[in-house]
Amino acid sequence: MRFDRTRRRALASTLGLLGLILGLEPVPAYASEVLIYSARHYGQEPAFEAFTKKTGIQIKMLSGSTGEMFERLKAEGERTPADVLLTVDAGNLWNAARAGLLSKLDSPELAANIPANLRDPDNRWVGLTVRARTIMYNTTKVKPAELSTYEALGDPKWKGRLCLRTSSYIYNQSLLATMIKRSGEPKTEEVVRGWVANQPILINGDTKILEAIAAGQCDVGLTNHYYLARILAKDAAFPVLPFWANQQTTGTHVNVSGAGVTAHAKNRANAVKLLEFLSSPEAQQMFADVAFEYPANPQAGTNPIVAKWGKFKQDDINVASAGEFQAAATRLADRAGYK
Ligand SMILES: [Fe+2]
Repeated sequence: MRFDRTRRRALASTLGLLGLILGLEPVPAYASEVLIYSARHYGQEPAFEAFTKKTGIQIKMLSGSTGEMFERLKAEGERTPADVLLTVDAGNLWNAARAGLLSKLDSPELAANIPANLRDPDNRWVGLTVRARTIMYNTTKVKPAELSTYEALGDPKWKGRLCLRTSSYIYNQSLLATMIKRSGEPKTEEVVRGWVANQPILINGDTKILEAIAAGQCDVGLTNHYYLARILAKDAAFPVLPFWANQQTTGTHVNVSGAGVTAHAKNRANAVKLLEFLSSPEAQQMFADVAFEYPANPQAGTNPIVAKWGKFKQDDINVASAGEFQAAATRLADRAGYK
């Protein structure tokens, strides 16, 4: 007991020191709390406040990039004070699970609230919000009838009119990874070669892509839907709209932000309780709304700005394929000359 307490105190001060280095408040470790390592930084989380109000369990959060949180969990090993890893993109959750950083979630509630394709098949993480990565177009220059699929962005008519995120970022890697899972590498490579032949303007950031489309630097692009919703919330006249890709075929590519309980969580029961709460319709709406994402629980409502774009067919492939084929997607992008 005494050893535990001493060790815990030492950890708390180590973490406090790390927090100070990162310019963050020290994070003390109490029994009735959940400590989240978060790489999902889309602002305040009213859902966490609602959880604390309901349960009395405090939420502590340490934020950083996905890479930082991953490395920290790995370095801390069984001494980690983190109970939950919260991050964006199934590819990142998959990587954390593969590195042994997450533990199994045996929760009938999570299984009931979150569709199976948005959860780890091995139950080590769960998607909590859904983001669609789809075609964005300039409404003054492109008619929706000219658009159809991701594949068709390789049509020569889009030469010099296409903006793409650089291939080094996980969002397009995950899109390609799920394509590989669906159609295999040769077909996916053909698609990417088609995009590259159209000499896309490569941009490092989804918001910047949307701004480039609005400014007429390009007419179409691929981004996550919520970046557009964020802009529209401030500027309703922004001349860009989403087109739901692949509605006649595989459905629009979706990904998740989600969470898992760490392999060495000290507050495991509370951590599971938090994830269960976040998957409930009540919390889902709050949690998704903060970032204009879609709730993963189909019982929950969607933010009005996003709801205006209508319902669409989502690719129902398990989002874990984003992790499974990430390395293959990166190699494929290299081969196809997609920088
Ligand atoms: Fe994002």
